[in-house]
Amino acid sequence: MNSLRERLIFLSGFFVRPATVRSVSQSTRHMTDRILYHAGAMNGGVVVEWGAGLGVLTRRLLQVIPPDGYLLSFENHPQYARELKRKLSGPQLEVVAEDASKTPEYLRQRGLPKASHIISTIPIRGEDAGQMLDAAAAALEPGGRYVQIGLWCSRELKNSSFQYHGRELVWWNVPPEVIHVMECRNGSANTGG
Ligand SMILES: C[S@@+](CC[C@H](N)C(=O)[O-])C[C@H]1O[C@@H](n2cnc3c(N)ncnc32)[C@H](O)[C@@H]1O
Repeated sequence: MNSLRERLIFLSGFFVRPATVRSVSQSTRHMTDRILYHAGAMNGGVVVEWGAGLGVLTRRLLQVIPPDGYLLSFENHPQYARELKRKLSGPQLEVVAEDASKTPEYLRQRGLPKASHIISTIPIRGEDAGQMLDAAAAALEPGGRYVQIGLWCSRELKNSSFQYHGRELVWWNVPPEVIHVMECRNGSANTGG
């Protein structure tokens, strides 16, 4: 359960950046359960989280990632990233206070392999959607899983680098959301590395 303090921090962060935070409260436990279900098995690779917020999903991911796995959690809201770094730390976690679109570049700079999973709760829409999907394709290994939350983004998620596997509408969340599950076909040519 989120503390009152955490709820207030999240809410105040929403008022500062409503378009990118997009919801007034963090994902519910039911939502994080369903996201983990759709993410599937994790085998000791690099898992990337997009839009970690205050870490409700980050904490759950750390529980399911195997001991030789590594979690990179991107969060570009400075207040959230600061709070998250204060709250969660450990040898398997790196909180990156950057825009998620920088993931491929970041993996390269850190000498990390491509990711086995990208789990994204950031809004995907309009012109930015193509750029984010390109970044996801460049960051994922072939067959890597991309799980994206979004009620109205089915059209934006059509992309030749991905095979669309399915979706689930989750009512028990504020707001209700759709979880989209996709698989990276064969990696992207534009990795630059
Ligand atoms: C709907 S909130 C989800 C927060 C948390 N993962 C949860 O499930 O409660 C979306 C989060 O994505 C972050 N975000 C939005 N666009 C981003 C981007 N391009 N790069 C990194 N973080 C982003 C927002 O600041 C916000 O914390």
